[in-house]
Amino acid sequence: MPPVLVTGATGFIGREVVRRLLAAGRPVVALARRRRNRPAADRVAAAVGLGPDGRRLDVVEADLTRPGLGLEPSAWRRLRETVELVIHGAGDTSFFPEASTSFRAGHVDGPLELLHGLTTGRLRVWAQLSTAYVCGRRSGLVLEHEGDVGQAFHNAYERVKLEAETALRGAGARLGVDVRVFRPSIVVGTAPETAGGSPANLFSGFIRLVGMLAESANGAEVPLRIVAAPQAPFNIVPVDFVTAAVVALALYPDGAGRISHLVVADAPSQQATLAMITERLGVRGLSCWMCVALVSRTPRGWRPGRAHARGLSRVSGAGRPVRRRRGAAAPGPVRAPAPPPVLPCGPSAHRPGPGDTRGSPSGGLGGDRVR
Ligand SMILES: NC(=O)c1ccc[n+]([C@@H]2O[C@H](COP(=O)([O-])OP(=O)(O)OC[C@H]3O[C@@H](n4cnc5c(N)ncnc54)[C@H](OP(=O)(O)O)[C@@H]3O)[C@@H](O)[C@H]2O)c1
Repeated sequence: MPPVLVTGATGFIGREVVRRLLAAGRPVVALARRRRNRPAADRVAAAVGLGPDGRRLDVVEADLTRPGLGLEPSAWRRLRETVELVIHGAGDTSFFPEASTSFRAGHVDGPLELLHGLTTGRLRVWAQLSTAYVCGRRSGLVLEHEGDVGQAFHNAYERVKLEAETALRGAGARLGVDVRVFRPSIVVGTAPETAGGSPANLFSGFIRLVGMLAESANGAEVPLRIVAAPQAPFNIVPVDFVTAAVVALALYPDGAGRISHLVVADAPSQQATLAMITERLGVRGLSCWMCVALVSRTPRGWRPGRAHARGLSRVSGAGRPVRRRRGAAAPGPVRAPAPPPVLPCGPSAHRPGPGDTRGSPSGGLGGDRVR
């Protein structure tokens, strides 16, 4: 059986994709970076929880931002001769990247080079992990077949993800490769059990903060107003649903050229989500407030600096377990409402809703994942 090439295997979603493929008996070749002198093979082994054996799991060292991806001609040859399907999950998930050239190279130029490089071989299908938030600042119903409709964006991440979708689909159409696009909303799950993942991000940091408040207030009311868009939907999906859908739809024989929204149709509001978190952690008094004045006074081009990121992760103690108040329900991952079943056909859409603030600044605290 030909191996599936997976990029992003050290990441939150990619490692689950690799595990799922291996469990289904599909050999995998993971394209991954060497970092801090740590070889890619070690990093993938640590992330997936299984060492490369050259038969079921092979690791090839590559960096999407480097010319030729840093691959030796012999590696290109081997990949061309074997790979028919790519599941592309690599990507810098910062909302406000510091270096825009390498950010774009990693999302657009590198993947295009990989696609072009493999097309002269056996490549037939390219499965692209995009995001539901390529819709940017649109509100109302967003359909799967819609891409660039001239929308504005909250950040560079949303913009580059749409650019990548468009570029890869265009190249696929010219080169005869079936490009399939997957658009998850905010992916949640427990922090990775294996090494290498970073469980810190804005939302999990927030949950930790509420956990700390619950503990210090010892059950008392904590009057705290949180700037948000109370009625906007908060669309979260579990990582196992996303990876099951990606693998099934990438392999589905009739899925050619499809774009799939991997989202919850009726997402709870931000207010309802806050209520779930506070109830679970046993703290009262927190409320969601729309603060239009603050938002509209934010200077153009403002972005959160490193200090904001450091400050929040210090306050929230990212990486520490959330302790619960005595008598409160046992902690566990925040669960999304049941996602739709994995259906290879049929339209699905999502409604970002007015004031959807998913794109609000996270300042390097993570991508759109929630762990
Ligand atoms: N998580 C979400 O909520 C969510 C939602 C919608 C869409 N997505 C999309 O799903 C994909 C995976 O997200 P994730 O949450 O798993 O991200 P993640 O945990 O940050 O993982 C990103 C992966 O991409 C790799 N990568 C980044 N730049 C690279 C480069 N230049 N060359 C080679 N590999 C590179 C990283 O490798 P290193 O370990 O070497 O850094 C890592 O394996 C992304 O495309 C993201 O946009 C995520």
